[in-house]
Amino acid sequence: MVKEREDQQDVQSELDQAQRRKPWQRYLEASLGLRNYWYPALFSRELPEDHMRAEIIAGERLFFKRIDGKVYCVEDRCIHRGVPFSPRPECYTDNTLTCWFHGFTYDWRTGKLVQILTEEDSALLGKVGIKAYPTQEVGETIFVYIGDGAPHDIREDAQPRLFDADLVVEPLVRYKIKCNWRVAAENGFDAAHIYGHRDWVGFRRGGLTAYPLGTYPSSKDIVRVLEEDGKPKGVLKRDDTQVYAAEIDGVDIRVEGYPKDAPRVRHEPRETEVSCFMPAGLQVVGFPKRGMVHFEWYVPIDDDHHMYTILQGGYAKTPEEREAFKRECREVLGPLVWNEPGKEPAGFNNFDSFGRKWTHHAYAKEDWWHRERLFKPDYIIMQWRMLVAKHARAIQTWGNWQKPDEDDIPQVP
Ligand code: FES
Ligand SMILES: [Fe+2]
Repeated sequence: MVKEREDQQDVQSELDQAQRRKPWQRYLEASLGLRNYWYPALFSRELPEDHMRAEIIAGERLFFKRIDGKVYCVEDRCIHRGVPFSPRPECYTDNTLTCWFHGFTYDWRTGKLVQILTEEDSALLGKVGIKAYPTQEVGETIFVYIGDGAPHDIREDAQPRLFDADLVVEPLVRYKIKCNWRVAAENGFDAAHIYGHRDWVGFRRGGLTAYPLGTYPSSKDIVRVLEEDGKPKGVLKRDDTQVYAAEIDGVDIRVEGYPKDAPRVRHEPRETEVSCFMPAGLQVVGFPKRGMVHFEWYVPIDDDHHMYTILQGGYAKTPEEREAFKRECREVLGPLVWNEPGKEPAGFNNFDSFGRKWTHHAYAKEDWWHRERLFKPDYIIMQWRMLVAKHARAIQTWGNWQKPDEDDIPQVP
């Protein structure tokens, strides 16, 4: 018991110190996201053969097309006068993209300028081009590499369970939220925000298996840094302290159905295992039910928005089992996690969208990165910040791109 109290002080005193010293300065500079990483851009089903789609990731305007089954991505900006192609895309041949303004024509596969329809023998041909981005499809999701040089192996970036044998996935939602990606990632990983989730229909089980009001670690040793080939890439939350009840002025507040005579605080590991990975992905094993894996990403769009991207995963061996799982996701498990905003019952993660929207302003404009008051359950968030500050490959910055106004965001007609 004495030992535990010492450890608890450890957690709090480390938090206090860190709040003063902010050993995560580089993280504070990463408002636009991390660079030299793979990001999920689209679900595969959103880009059928021959279709095109524009997206913005970490401030870069991207234009995607599927040709003969393979996905290509180029910079959505013509080298001539800088306009985006996507508001009026023209493809005279399968592999080329022609700018609607003066006819500069690029190869989708390399980004090279291969023809100019209004100056046939231009000296520019073959010499210049737009950036072509590496893409890859994993788990029915199209990933794009935002960075310089040859891409890293995607396994170093995406959540490890995404590569499990027999994994079957069902893409659930991509939803744009006005909130910086770091605030979103911290929300996904936040130990005590489970309090705000307490009315979720899936939690109404009561008894000793009820979900707690909040959790925190009893000691610093409980945090685990996850590595791939010896390189740190994520942190695992393993809080061992669960709070089920509290009191305000003699009024008992407790998790619905939690027995009156059971201890308010219990020390035990939780079944669900939550980890957060660079550049911006969460993996929750055992959610929304045992045997499943929940994947989500907070893909930075710009410094004020992220694309909340959710993929549900399970395990199946036969095609029939796979189809049954996907159907269960579409009909039952999906709406439990994300329901159309405003629809009842609210999906679990709809609360997160609510929470992020209301957190963003303070961090973006009222300097909450320096004014926040952290408490013990935030210990894991601090570990995440330090991981990114210390080990992120590079930080994305404005420069080559600038933030478009809302009405300047290109859409494919
Ligand atoms: S702006 Fe694209 S061809 Fe002129
Ligand atoms: Fe949440």
